[in-house]
Amino acid sequence: MNENVQVINHPLVQHKLSLMRMKDTSTRGFRILIREVGTLLAYEVTKDLPVLYKEIETPLMKMNAPFLEGKKLCLVSILRAGNGLLDGFMDLVPSARVGHIGLYRDPETLVAVEYYMKLPELINQRLVLALDPMLATGHSSSAAVTRLKENGASNIRFVCLLAAPEGIEYFAKVHPDVPIYTAAIDEKLNSHAYILPGLGDAGDRIFGTK
Ligand code: URA
Repeated sequence: MNENVQVINHPLVQHKLSLMRMKDTSTRGFRILIREVGTLLAYEVTKDLPVLYKEIETPLMKMNAPFLEGKKLCLVSILRAGNGLLDGFMDLVPSARVGHIGLYRDPETLVAVEYYMKLPELINQRLVLALDPMLATGHSSSAAVTRLKENGASNIRFVCLLAAPEGIEYFAKVHPDVPIYTAAIDEKLNSHAYILPGLGDAGDRIFGTK
């Protein structure tokens, strides 16, 4: 496996992911599940964050207690499916700053074109977690991460639910410095760049648009 990739094999994540893959899972069910999985992924992705010790007073005595070091995290949703994961991340890290990036693929040139971007300030001093449930070809995810870097981000982690081997290979080539966290690596892409076996179109399943 590519050394940039970490698969979150937690049984709760795997169980919920299996429910999300099932074609008869309702929009409501899918939405609840992606939020729950988002929270579990957030827990795993942040488990090595540095802490610093500060003196506090409990009702009984003083102690040195650990707190997260540095500036608040920055979560970036890659629109629109990133918003499904974002909810779960915000549940666990409610003070995180949040950015959004929207890209679409030009049908003729196949180049990723940005249509929306709003990022918090001082992104260069924050750990940035870029969220997109599906790492398929890797083109839009890596274009979004390129935009984050152009805006000063240098400490970035990419988080998805499912990754295709083709997407991992492409993304890791363009961004060897950005670790990928995923709940599963699936078999391959089909001719329409859908992940197999996958879960279908993540945006449609979150928002009920199909
Ligand atoms: N985007 C999706 O939503 N699903 C896929 O399978 C691939 C890309």
